[in-house]
Amino acid sequence: MATTRTRDWRPDSWRSRPARQMPTYDDPERLKAVERRLASFPPLVFAGECRELERRLAEVAAGRAFLLQGGDCAEAFAQFDANKIRDTLRVLLQMAVVLTYGAGMPVVKVGRMAGQFAKPRSQPTEVREGVELPAYRGDIINDIAFDAEARRPDPERMVQAYMQAAATLNLLRAFTEGGYASLTRVHQWNLGFVAHSPQGERYRDLADRIGEALEFMRACGITDLNTPAIRRTTFYTSHECLLLPFEQAFVRIDSTTGLWYDTSAHFLWIGDRTRQLDGAHVEFCRGIENPLGIKAGPSMTPDELLRLLDALDPDNRPGRITIITRLGAERVGELLPPLIRAVVREGRQVVWSCDPMHGNTIKTAGGIKTRPFERVLQEVRTFFEVHRAEGTHAGGIHLEMTGEDVTECLGGAQAISEAELTDRYHTHCDPRLNAQQSLELAFLMAEALKAERAALRRAS
Ligand code: PEP
Ligand code: CO
Repeated sequence: MATTRTRDWRPDSWRSRPARQMPTYDDPERLKAVERRLASFPPLVFAGECRELERRLAEVAAGRAFLLQGGDCAEAFAQFDANKIRDTLRVLLQMAVVLTYGAGMPVVKVGRMAGQFAKPRSQPTEVREGVELPAYRGDIINDIAFDAEARRPDPERMVQAYMQAAATLNLLRAFTEGGYASLTRVHQWNLGFVAHSPQGERYRDLADRIGEALEFMRACGITDLNTPAIRRTTFYTSHECLLLPFEQAFVRIDSTTGLWYDTSAHFLWIGDRTRQLDGAHVEFCRGIENPLGIKAGPSMTPDELLRLLDALDPDNRPGRITIITRLGAERVGELLPPLIRAVVREGRQVVWSCDPMHGNTIKTAGGIKTRPFERVLQEVRTFFEVHRAEGTHAGGIHLEMTGEDVTECLGGAQAISEAELTDRYHTHCDPRLNAQQSLELAFLMAEALKAERAALRRAS
């Protein structure tokens, strides 16, 4: 079954297009052998799940749900452990509860997890004390250690990334379907260092109210035993669609529909550095049926955005495209309205999501990459204000965050200072929000969504 998109498309048709941000492997035969092995491995996700996600995202596009997407900037082989996965999931579940309760709408939960390994870099090489080596491009490509052998791209790393993604996804499925995500456990998600923070206390109040509501429902005969929606939740995975040899190996035909899916994750996005209309990444993504994200940085023009929508979603299918704007706190107020107006003018049905991380990265005097939490909050506030003014739905958030107590972004209720950044700075790439900062942001968004709904009620 060929759709308008997949005519003249093959899983390898990207190979004849210019591909940015891709490593050069020095042994093409070894690369080919790895690609063949990957292509023989079981898929990580199932096409039916991707379609279900698209249906849920269509609800977001229609203004009836909210998208919560978050996780590491880069997953790492050396930071692969169950507690870390559980803690990031736990904070996402807490945020989802805050948003669902506050905004009164379903929250679609998507992790930057179980496959978020490949990184685009602003420079192809890195220089330290006069020594120049290839840049670190994520554990799926090379090693972060600064020596020549470690930085050499090694195709075998794709196999290890697949194994780690499979195990991570397995644990996520166990947690979300096996009882950990049951609403009867809302209090337990708050244990640990977060519980004693102001955000933790605010969360406990909310969990108390949910507990009371559940008790009332139980008295009415609605329990976690007879109502699966209380006991389990659906969690989806996503990553940047960057390393195309890897992605191509997971393109499979869905036997139900006869269509192509990239079974490495439910949702894939095209990064701001690889969104050239005639480039390999757009060519690859146009042919797969998964829901797609398009990152839009300050250089994205309304016209470019419309042409990307034509290429990736010629049928204007709600839920197919999420536009993830990452414009920076200072410029979002000026740059977002023209993008929204162009998309609305063309009658395009998209999800609008805000990435308040990538437009707000700075370097401290000491050379540490960080993000001031106040600027992150400011981009989110302006994102909501602009959508309210345009009459469109502020549909989602895209975050680099972790459940750990890291000190990577400045400020927040803990008032992390420049001097404290080095205390627990563990990220392999960009600075992430810690659990408290993430929760604080969720409360802010719940209020903003409430205001959006009140404005809509007044207007109707
Ligand atoms: C990312 O999401 O990690 C990323 C690199 O973002 P962008 O493409 O928006 O810069
Ligand atoms: Co990043």
